[in-house]
Amino acid sequence: MPTPTHPLFHKAMAVSSIILIAAVASLLSPAAALTCTSQTFPHNVAFANCTDLPTLKAYLHWTYDPAAKPNPTLSVAFIATPASPDGWVAWALNPTAPAMIGSQALVAFKQPNGSAVVKTYNISAYGPISESKISYEVLEKSTEYSNGVFTIFAKLVVPLAEEVNQVWQVGASVKDGVPQKHSFSVDNLASKGKLQLIRRSAPAPAPEPTSAAAPQPQNGTSGAGSSRGVMFGGVFGLVGASIFML
Ligand SMILES: *[C@@H]1O[C@H](CO)[C@@H](O)[C@H](O)[C@H]1NC(C)=O
Ligand SMILES: *[C@@H]1O[C@H](CO)[C@@H](O)[C@H](O)[C@H]1NC(C)=O
Ligand SMILES: *[C@@H]1O[C@H](CO)[C@@H](O)[C@H](O)[C@H]1NC(C)=O
Repeated sequence: MPTPTHPLFHKAMAVSSIILIAAVASLLSPAAALTCTSQTFPHNVAFANCTDLPTLKAYLHWTYDPAAKPNPTLSVAFIATPASPDGWVAWALNPTAPAMIGSQALVAFKQPNGSAVVKTYNISAYGPISESKISYEVLEKSTEYSNGVFTIFAKLVVPLAEEVNQVWQVGASVKDGVPQKHSFSVDNLASKGKLQLIRRSAPAPAPEPTSAAAPQPQNGTSGAGSSRGVMFGGVFGLVGASIFML
C-alpha cells in the first residue's frame, strides 16, 4: 500500500487529476452550450437529430435515412464560425478513422467576389489540399454565410452503419482559392469523433422496483444522444492533448 509520500502515490494523483479534469470538461462543455436544439433553418428545412459538437463551437444537424432508395442517405447541416471572416469551415466523414487523413471533406469559404461556396476534398495528406471527388456520393451540397457563420448543407449516400467517424475544422484563411492550414490548438486537434447514426437499442431494464421511482435521464433527447461521443471526444481529446504536449 503506497503511503502519501510514495512516488507511486504522486503518479496516481497526477493521473487521476487528468482523468478528473477530462471528465469534468466533457460534462461541462455540452451542458454549457446545448444550442443546436434552438437553431432553425429557413424554408421549412428540418433535421431529425442535432449535436453540439464538443469543440470549435460547431453544430451538426442530421437525418439518417437507412431505408432511402436506392441507397441510405445522410442529410446534414453543419454550422460553424471560421477562425477569421476570410477563413473556412469544414465537416467530413472519414471511413477509415476519426482523423484528418482519410477525411472526405466538405469545405466552405468565400470566393473573391464574396459569394460562399462549398467544395469537396479527399484529404489524403497533410499539406495543400485540392478540390476532388470524395468516396461518398454527394447528392446535394450548398452553403450559406450570414453574420459571420457558415452553414454547409449536404446530402450524401452513406451505407448502412450504426456510426461513422466525423471530423470538423475551422481555418483562418483561403489563398488563391485554397483553404490554408488550420491552427493546432487543443480544440483544433480534438475536433473529431463518432457520429451515432442509429441509436443502439437500450438494454432491457433489470426488474428493480425501487429504480422506477427515480427518474432516469432519457437517453433519447437529441443532445443526450451524442453524450457518449462527447465524453469520448473530451477524454481522448484531453489525454491526446496532454500526450501531444509531453
Ligand atoms: C463569384 O465567383 C464565382 C467563381 O468565380 C462564380 O462562380 C460566381 O458565380 C460568382 N458569384 C457572383 C454573385 O458573382
Ligand atoms: C482519395 O485519395 C486516396 C489516396 O490518394 C486514394 O487512394 C483514393 O482513391 C481517393 N478517393 C477518391 C474518391 O478519389
Ligand atoms: C434521431 O431522432 C429520431 C427522431 O426523434 C430518433 O428516433 C432517433 O433515435 C434519433 N437518433 C439518434 C442517433 O439519436
